[in-house]
Amino acid sequence: MAATGSKRFRGALTRAMLRRMQARVDVLTPRLRLRNLSPGDTPLVLHWATDADVVRNFSFFEHGADPARIRAYIEEKERSAADLLLAVMERVDSGEQYAGNVGLHEWDPINDNARLGIILQQAAWGRGVAQEAICGLLGHAFTSLRLHKVYLNVFTTNDKGIHLYGKLGFVHEGVMRAEYKLRGEYRDMLRMSILRTEWPTPAARGFLEGA
Ligand SMILES: CC(C)(COP(=O)(O)OP(=O)(O)OC[C@H]1O[C@@H](n2cnc3c(N)ncnc32)[C@H](O)[C@@H]1OP(=O)(O)O)[C@@H](O)C(=O)NCCC(=O)NCCS
Repeated sequence: MAATGSKRFRGALTRAMLRRMQARVDVLTPRLRLRNLSPGDTPLVLHWATDADVVRNFSFFEHGADPARIRAYIEEKERSAADLLLAVMERVDSGEQYAGNVGLHEWDPINDNARLGIILQQAAWGRGVAQEAICGLLGHAFTSLRLHKVYLNVFTTNDKGIHLYGKLGFVHEGVMRAEYKLRGEYRDMLRMSILRTEWPTPAARGFLEGA
């Protein structure tokens, strides 16, 4: 009986997760719109996925990127109850310009947490786009999805990432030793996180209010 009950509970949880993760997203920040990434966006993603400077820290791209693989990845994330993959669109005079992807992954509905990931194409770097996109996503994570905690893993050598996540209020949790295999070498990663009770931080408020 208990096993059946727990099976039913897990089934209901998965359906509820699917509904929440697969709901259409449209998050506006002062300069950006975050919307669901769709298979039709494959050519946009391919633009940065074939840029060695952008993907050098991701083993997924170690053997190159081709349209079929990128499309399959987007379709898989679209179906998944544990992933939310969004396109970061910069609002410009002529409409909108794609900047990259931001997302939540490995959503754990028992403990209400998920892992954040972000990749932007080089043309978008250095203008605060990542910070604004992360603030938009965190707002959605803590209000609409009611997550309790959002965490991320960053290479201990990624000074830029560590700086910008820290500035937004992510706290160092610890170093995961030899966590990620990249080009045949195991690398240390720093885990950082932010809680709903810490949100919004002063820096995030600045980004969301366009200061
Ligand atoms: C990491 C990434 C998302 C950052 O995007 P971005 O739009 O350039 O970031 P922002 O402009 O919002 O913020 C960058 C911040 O880092 C700072 N910075 C830049 N280079 C730095 C460095 N070498 N060391 C420390 N800080 C650095 C900038 O000054 C800025 O901080 P500030 O606002 O206090 O001045 C982007 O470079 C990227 O997509 N890289 C490839 C994929 C990747 O590594 N993803 C992250 C994996 S954890």
